[in-house]
Amino acid sequence: MHYKIKPLTLILILVVTCGVAWAQFAKPEDAVSYRKAVMQVIGRHFGQMAAVVKDQLPYDKDAFEFDSKVVAMMARLPWEASLVPGSYAGDTTLKEKALKDRDGFLAAAQKFEDASQELLTAAAGGDRGAIKSKFGATAKTCSACHKAYRK
Ligand code: HEC
Repeated sequence: MHYKIKPLTLILILVVTCGVAWAQFAKPEDAVSYRKAVMQVIGRHFGQMAAVVKDQLPYDKDAFEFDSKVVAMMARLPWEASLVPGSYAGDTTLKEKALKDRDGFLAAAQKFEDASQELLTAAAGGDRGAIKSKFGATAKTCSACHKAYRK
């Protein structure tokens, strides 16, 4: 049986869920722990991929593609949480420069998102040469952002 959501219902759902997304960063510490958690997941899966690219772990196409999917999806998440005023002191390594240079920070984030999508495409294709090159390109976007915006 088909179930249709009326447009008004859909708008209400969007308003409510967006409200929740904002509310969870009402405290700067919440934004810090969220962005760090996302980065830890990215780091874990990207680290596994690095081991495969360096031939320290055997290449398994499905596992590698899964890790790429996780990274490409997580790559879209932590930016809002990185631009919360008051979240640059305490247990964080993010410089306030991210907020002051919002456009530059978001451009660095976009480069990473784009590179991780290309890496996912290569992972789905299974060509190890392409994988290696797209992995390297993605890794460069990690360090570029960290170098510019982390303490
Ligand atoms: C556009 C910026 C940006 C990009 C791109 C980026 N990061 Fe990060 N990363 C950050 C910021 C900001 C922090 C610090 C968060 C904090 O301490 O509040 C961070 C922190 C981390 C941490 C430490 C988390 C912790 O618990 O302190 C790891 C691990 C990490 N990043 C891995 C990666 C990897 C791997 C990539 C690429 C695949 C990547 N990051 C790409 C901005 C970025």
